[in-house]
Amino acid sequence: MTFDSRAFRTALGCFPTGIAVMTAAGPESHIGITVNSFTSVSLDPPLVLWCIDRRSRRYSAFAEASGFTVSILGSGHKAVSSRLAGAGEHSLDGIDLTPTELGPPALADSLAVFECALESVQEAGDHAILIGRVLRFARHDGAGAPLVYFQGRYGALAQGEPPEGTPGRRITDESEN
Ligand SMILES: Cc1cc2nc3c(=O)[nH]c(=O)nc-3n(C[C@H](O)[C@H](O)[C@H](O)COP(=O)(O)O)c2cc1C
Repeated sequence: MTFDSRAFRTALGCFPTGIAVMTAAGPESHIGITVNSFTSVSLDPPLVLWCIDRRSRRYSAFAEASGFTVSILGSGHKAVSSRLAGAGEHSLDGIDLTPTELGPPALADSLAVFECALESVQEAGDHAILIGRVLRFARHDGAGAPLVYFQGRYGALAQGEPPEGTPGRRITDESEN
């Protein structure tokens, strides 16, 4: 049986995700990459992970860095997300940044920022799993709605009331934040 990689990728795209930009020290200056593989792992100790393509030109910089900064993107970050998803587009030049306490800068106006020490790098097929220990984090109230990725396209969370019986609130209406 042949494995249809393209169909596999399309099926994986049915899982909606947020978007994050990872920043780290590069060979000359700080670099960034757009990812949707970011996820939480553990609360105690506080661990997160993301996956990087081992064929990426950014791979060695991230795998050899002492840590990385995670910026959770908002709906206003579409252009910067596309830029840092471009082949070879590693540089943060001209992007609005916020300094962090421990290391690489975060993207300005991010919904949340996690400053991580690189805990381990585990090869997994053509990607590697980078696990980070969160040393500091910040959540920015009022940063607005998240940038969402679904079936290969950017989107936003649907407006509307939360499902009945679910405690929650609309998060696309910025006036409520
Ligand atoms: C929405 C989105 C999510 C992505 N997520 C990942 C990811 O989780 N891991 C990864 O290695 N590349 C991911 N990419 C691809 C990288 O952003 C980038 O395009 C790729 O690394 C380019 O190759 P280069 O690093 O060799 O320049 C994603 C791209 C987009 C648009």
